[in-house]
Amino acid sequence: MQTIDLKKEFLQFFKSKGHKIIPSAPIIPENDPTCLFNTAGMQPLVPYLKGETHPEGKRLADVQKCFRTNDLDSIGDKTHHTFFEMLGNWSLGDYFKEEAIDWSFEFLTKKLNIPQERLAITVFKGNDIVPADTETAELWMKHGIKKERIAYLGEENNWWPNMESLGPCGPDTEIFYWRSEEEVPEVFNPDDENWVEIWNNVFMQYNHEQDNTFSQLKNKNVDTGLGVERVTAILEGKTDNYESSVWSDVIKKIEEISGLSYQDEKNKRSMRIIADHIRAIVMISGDNAGIKPSNTDQGYILRRLIRRTIRYAKKLNIDINSNWEQDLANLIIEKYSVYYNELEKNKETILEILKNEKLKFNRTLEKGLREFEKVVNSLEGSIINKDTAFKLYDTYGFPIELTEELAKELNLKVDIEGFNEKFAEHQEKSREGSTGKFKGGLASTGEMETKYHTATHLLNAALKKVLGPHVHQKGSNITAERMRFDFSHDTKMTDEEKQKVEELVNEYIKQAIPVEKFEMKKEEAIAQGAEAMFIEKYGDIVSVYKIGDVSMELCGGPHVKNTSELGTFKIKKEEASSAGVRRIKAILE
Ligand code: ALA
Repeated sequence: MQTIDLKKEFLQFFKSKGHKIIPSAPIIPENDPTCLFNTAGMQPLVPYLKGETHPEGKRLADVQKCFRTNDLDSIGDKTHHTFFEMLGNWSLGDYFKEEAIDWSFEFLTKKLNIPQERLAITVFKGNDIVPADTETAELWMKHGIKKERIAYLGEENNWWPNMESLGPCGPDTEIFYWRSEEEVPEVFNPDDENWVEIWNNVFMQYNHEQDNTFSQLKNKNVDTGLGVERVTAILEGKTDNYESSVWSDVIKKIEEISGLSYQDEKNKRSMRIIADHIRAIVMISGDNAGIKPSNTDQGYILRRLIRRTIRYAKKLNIDINSNWEQDLANLIIEKYSVYYNELEKNKETILEILKNEKLKFNRTLEKGLREFEKVVNSLEGSIINKDTAFKLYDTYGFPIELTEELAKELNLKVDIEGFNEKFAEHQEKSREGSTGKFKGGLASTGEMETKYHTATHLLNAALKKVLGPHVHQKGSNITAERMRFDFSHDTKMTDEEKQKVEELVNEYIKQAIPVEKFEMKKEEAIAQGAEAMFIEKYGDIVSVYKIGDVSMELCGGPHVKNTSELGTFKIKKEEASSAGVRRIKAILE
């Protein structure tokens, strides 16, 4: 098999074109409660696409850890994944269409050696905001792409992210690859499934405002995105992503552990789910955001992933009490640490989370089995009804197949249809409940959010003064209505302490201190005593926000220009967050 190390090739190529390679941002967006996970490479870069200067410069490239939950039920097919990696190159007000297209073309045809004849292009056909993008079409033709291979499409296809989402956006040009053995057709038909999209170049020059207008961004930016799993499989000639070099070693390990073959159709779905989920589990629990299994938000997703992995491992008759999950996790950690060195650092945590959650789930399963016996003992007739089947699923984590199997042994039946109805209802509800958070939203940094960002720095500084230097930020969550700040401290704050902190922050506001931004070497910032939450996530050159003598923190911003803009600061609540961590909710009035 011809294998392609897409990440290495891509990053090397863009480095040679003057791009700085920046580390992936954490998988959890910071300061953006509207969104549980980063879902695209550009998401952590929103402030810079909006015009903040990036400390590493105007040309950036990276591989970003992304996670999408909307496809959870599709996992197990050939092409869907929860966690995936997105390659991207960015121009923040530097190069625009011409260089972006030149380099996309050069990378595909010279580095990946794709014959130009196998490529086709879509460009934006225009709307009332921008005219048809003939400029882009001409740039492609300059490289020899024939007119017949360029399709002009509308907003639904060639505007990113879409016309509804707020934030940076713009028309895009997408590159398609002919993947079939059949002869490449002269004329490009975007509906032909053998033409597959491999790369997207967005010309990000607009901002979709709250009032539904599209204003010009300060800069004309380029934002590109290329999914590692998908494109690797396509270029390696695989229609099943799991047969590409991205996955082959993971699948092989699952074959070894289970003693079963991936080529056997009946094992494929379970093996794909295990492969996808174990990687996602490692990435989420190994991220510096410190996610643990829980019953809410990201922790809940993590828990679901672990339980699902175990269920499908059971399906393959893997001995759950063996070290199978540790072996798989170790493989992923080793393989991905080159790009995400936090995995190596957080290795023990990852392995422990998996082990503990496995033990916990096993106990739940045992309880479920006892519940099942109870149900059977009091059963009238020979059918387990939908409510019971659903309770076993929902409360005890019993897959319906397990309930069915157990029932069969006792010559009982399960109301599968009823269960499926209930299941669908439940899914609909949880989808409704989560759409707000999974919209794949872009960080919203309006005026209030910006004020709260600055207030967060002042609060951090005031807490240190009042409670002691052991105080460090453990988390932050900002909406337009309030701020939430988690910090290291063991005991409940007294009323007096709270009042002192509040007064101090308001004092800083009254002093009208300018908020200044500096760029410096990471080591220098640390040497000067700058606060930093996740030091590893920053590149060599960092932005530091300094508020007089009060505060100095590594931060991407955005911030107000002067503390006097903040109004009056009020603490609404102080409570425990987790062991050794307290949480403050506060507002600005
Ligand atoms: N942001 C664009 C995408 O994700 C490049 O497709």
